[in-house]
Amino acid sequence: MSGAKKKRRRMVILLAAIGLIAVGAIYADLEIGYYTPENLGKVAQPAPPNLAPDGNYAVAAYPLYKPQLAPGEGEQDAAAYCNTCHTPSYITMQPPLPAAAWEAEVNKMGKAFGAQFPTDVQQRIIKYLQTHYTPETRKR
Ligand code: HEC
Repeated sequence: MSGAKKKRRRMVILLAAIGLIAVGAIYADLEIGYYTPENLGKVAQPAPPNLAPDGNYAVAAYPLYKPQLAPGEGEQDAAAYCNTCHTPSYITMQPPLPAAAWEAEVNKMGKAFGAQFPTDVQQRIIKYLQTHYTPETRKR
């Protein structure tokens, strides 16, 4: 056999192989997701998990952070009224503030943010904050 003939034969074999692979790939692609009565059930589905009828699950209590307001007259008012829009721990989160700053703070909650306190409650809360949360009086 001459060299040119050999080369041509190799070329034909190579092209035939590529053609076969291409046809196989197209055929495999057509088969994807193609269900007929014959191949139904051939794709194994994962078995549903066996749920234990006597399963015992424990869930811990949801952690609720309860701010420790200093005990004293007005504590209940602060705990109730200052809890409407945000946690009353906003009080304990502050550094010790001068008495005038606390008064301004409570007034600001009303004027700027629309908090509504009965006048006597507002005075009690201001007094309470000034009694327990100034640099001179704050204990913790
Ligand atoms: C009507 C809603 C409302 C009420 C009621 C309220 N606050 Fe506020 N408070 C806000 C808003 C809004 C902010 C600013 C936004 C934020 O930080 O969440 C704020 C922020 C604060 C801050 C952080 C410093 C500042 O000025 O932003 C403090 C301290 C505070 N409030 C204290 C109080 C106290 C004490 C009371 C009870 C007398 C109170 N709040 C009641 C709405 C309210």
